Amino acid sequence: MCQDPGKYPSWSRLDFAPRFLRRHKTAKLVHTVDHLVIGSGIAGLTFALRVAERGSVAILTKTTADETSTRWAQGGIASVTAPDDDFASHVRDTLEAGDGLCHQDAVELLVSEGPEAIRELVAWGVNFTRTGGKKGPFDLHREGGHNRARILHAGDITGAEIERALLEAAKAHPNIRIVEQRFALELITQHFLVERHDDRLTCHGAYALDRTTGRIETWLAPVTVLCTGGLGQVYQHTTNPVVATGDGIAMAWRAGARVANLEFVQFHPTSLYDPVRGPFLISEAVRGAGAVLVDSRGERFMEHEHPLKDLAPRDIVARAIDRRMKALGDACVFLDASVLGSHAKSKFPNIHARCLEAGFRLGVDPIPVTPSAHYLCGGIDTDLQARTSITGLYACGECAHTGIHGANRLASNSLLEAVVFSRRAADHALSKPRPRVDPRIVAKWNKKGTQEHREEVVIRHLHDTVRRIMWDFVGIVRTTDRLERASAHLRLIRDEVEAFYKATVITPSLLELRNAARTARLVVDCALKRRESRGLHSSLDFPRKAKEPVDTILRHRV
Ligand code: FAD
Ligand code: SIN
Repeated sequence: MCQDPGKYPSWSRLDFAPRFLRRHKTAKLVHTVDHLVIGSGIAGLTFALRVAERGSVAILTKTTADETSTRWAQGGIASVTAPDDDFASHVRDTLEAGDGLCHQDAVELLVSEGPEAIRELVAWGVNFTRTGGKKGPFDLHREGGHNRARILHAGDITGAEIERALLEAAKAHPNIRIVEQRFALELITQHFLVERHDDRLTCHGAYALDRTTGRIETWLAPVTVLCTGGLGQVYQHTTNPVVATGDGIAMAWRAGARVANLEFVQFHPTSLYDPVRGPFLISEAVRGAGAVLVDSRGERFMEHEHPLKDLAPRDIVARAIDRRMKALGDACVFLDASVLGSHAKSKFPNIHARCLEAGFRLGVDPIPVTPSAHYLCGGIDTDLQARTSITGLYACGECAHTGIHGANRLASNSLLEAVVFSRRAADHALSKPRPRVDPRIVAKWNKKGTQEHREEVVIRHLHDTVRRIMWDFVGIVRTTDRLERASAHLRLIRDEVEAFYKATVITPSLLELRNAARTARLVVDCALKRRESRGLHSSLDFPRKAKEPVDTILRHRV
């Protein structure tokens, strides 16, 4: 099945084409399913559970199934469930936080389909905290930017509870197979077919590295869903788990999908400043319960920043902290939760325990906090059915750009977005069945011609350099000069990484570095394109807002 590259001129424009052409000969394992899901967080599991009655599902996940941002979510999931709350108010708060760039139609869907999505989570076994017993109303928290208490939670480990329940339900379903330690590395589009198939850019599945054997497998499906989460690990300080290296965004980009608004990286204002163990999120719910921010002189600096003070939208709080730290030359500010006193432990047991490990008593001592990269508002561009610009490819959860978050996400809207839009994707995929590709015309990976050896220290060094560049030059407040420096440095790293990628055996750390370097550059490219300050993108060179803001769209022509 050795094809003539000359017959397929588009291959020669793909950066991985020469390597692929060397590799396609030795067939390894080929799997065919009805739905291929990449990622086992809230988005992937919701999609899988929703389609499983109607076909086979494989969920590929790059380490263990519960290693996800979902598992770490603390504060909760926003939805209108209280009698004194209403859709209009949730819509208004979301639009206000999004600073003029939200897609109103997407926000309205999110909010109006929220309660049904919550009912489904409960039916799948998620136990949200309630007042007055098992059947009582939900206990609702309030967080930054919300004018009402509308955050459903499970103690202060909401994400762990959601991940537990959905994983249990998925594992119990006979049509769902969860395949751990599978690192999806490239989407299969028509460029990987040995016969011409379709003129539209179409996805037929993905190649994945089996980390336990080192073999590359071919996973074929008429429907592929990217649910790969965010990109926090392109920054030096992040609340995200190690798996968040922007893989789905990089894969989609290489395959030719549209990506949007990647400049809007949300820095959570309050992660525990712990130089020994690293950052740990101190939920906004702690401020929602009355805690306040103070600087090293004890001054409550949010008082004059915004009418909502310490509960202002995150971009405003993070910038105020950044300014205060820079002005005083401090490495952190402090969260004063003394208003909670002895209730701090019962209300936030997990956060209390982690603070204690670092030597601080929540409710008694001022807790040192600093902003950390937390959430990506942009992503792979999708429509209201979660379809990407590639036929057969959907994207859901944090890796997707639905238009809901605009220039700044409202707290606790992301878990809701993941559920609502994964449900929409599933319903759309079921309503529009697609043909399967013939496995015989799909090229297999061939690792001939690559060298075995690449020192891990080189890869680690380059990944650390990417993180450092992003933290120093593409942080909370930006300048064109810093962005251009970041772009130039990242270009050099990209060239070095691509040279490794073509010549050496693939390892997970090399794949993560390649994806992180690519997504970091995309963030910088988007940031350079936005010539205004809005929401999470704050530029000293363009301090004003544009009159008619537009999404930043990037696309790689394959
Ligand atoms: P994830 O849950 O991150 O799952 C991504 C999955 O993709 C993982 O299984 C990963 O292994 C897999 N994956 C990635 N790349 C590959 C690859 N190449 N091959 C195979 N698998 C791959 N949001 C809220 O709404 N409320 C909160 O209270 C809240 N708190 C948060 C607290 C923390 C500390 C963090 C980090 C985030 C928080 N968020 C919160 C954000 C929210 O948790 C995430 O946006 C959401 O969980 C993302 O879900 P997801 O399914 O898109 O991705
Ligand atoms: C938090 O608990 O503060 C995080 C909530 C979120 O990221 O939405």
